[in-house]
Amino acid sequence: MTGLLNGKVAIITGVASGIGRAAAALFAREGAALVAADVMADEGEAVVKSIRDGGGKAAFVRCDIARAADVEAMVAAAVKAYGRIDCAFNNAGIIGQLARTAEETEENFDRVMLIDLKGPWLCMKYEILQMLRQGKGGAIVNTASAAGLVGSHGMPTYTAAKHGVVGLTRTAALEYARAGIRINAVCPGIVDTPMTQGIMAQHPRMAQATGIMPIGRNCRPEEIAEAAAWLCSDAASFVTGHAMAVDGGLTAH
Ligand SMILES: NC(=O)c1ccc[n+]([C@@H]2O[C@H](COP(=O)([O-])OP(=O)(O)OC[C@H]3O[C@@H](n4cnc5c(N)ncnc54)[C@H](O)[C@@H]3O)[C@@H](O)[C@H]2O)c1
Repeated sequence: MTGLLNGKVAIITGVASGIGRAAAALFAREGAALVAADVMADEGEAVVKSIRDGGGKAAFVRCDIARAADVEAMVAAAVKAYGRIDCAFNNAGIIGQLARTAEETEENFDRVMLIDLKGPWLCMKYEILQMLRQGKGGAIVNTASAAGLVGSHGMPTYTAAKHGVVGLTRTAALEYARAGIRINAVCPGIVDTPMTQGIMAQHPRMAQATGIMPIGRNCRPEEIAEAAAWLCSDAASFVTGHAMAVDGGLTAH
């Protein structure tokens, strides 16, 4: 532990699994007090329990990031528990069904856009409003994707939503830079999480995708968490509006 986030109050979404779970553990180890949110209450509570058992500070909030009332309540819960928020890692998301553009269904399009684009926007909206009320700045990191930087075969809506997250990130960064609120995105390549495992089970050819990673392996969830923690920390004090590829070189071609 380096104490990178010592004394900070952090919100993390999507803590029940994958990148969010790794981030919750890392942020707590680095000294942050957490509000840990997810739609999956039992799994999220278990993550919070293990952090508390290890001596960390964490509270679980059930929150569907696609519902404004839930997101507003998540921010209010953090303020009630700790008095303020200093940083947020808006990470929750879904991949949806894989299909090429012409075979994409309207149902999948609407669901993926709702959770992957509207969700991070709602999180930013209520976090920024709270940070403005506090008047002391803050740091927000959104999880986009390598698919937010380049086209991605067979996931048109996910790719569009993640490009949208990068657009929302850059725009909000410009709007709130003078208020001291830094807003960045992480853009993971292929990360070994239940999301990826689910897709590979359905589409075995996707398992060969590891071969396209220049670094020669998939990412560990902890490697994305490290980038998010740094972007949330004061060590990144001059970094805002950045979409940081953490993708083993995938988008360097
Ligand atoms: N795994 C990858 O290869 C990869 C690559 C690039 C980007 N990402 C992004 O990283 C983020 C985390 O993905 P992961 O791989 O850890 O996936 P995951 O499926 O392991 O975890 C996602 C978490 O988000 C939660 N969630 C889903 N919808 C939600 C909602 N409406 N409200 C609140 N919580 C919700 C889930 O319950 C789950 O706990 C996502 O935004 C994903 O798009 C993942």
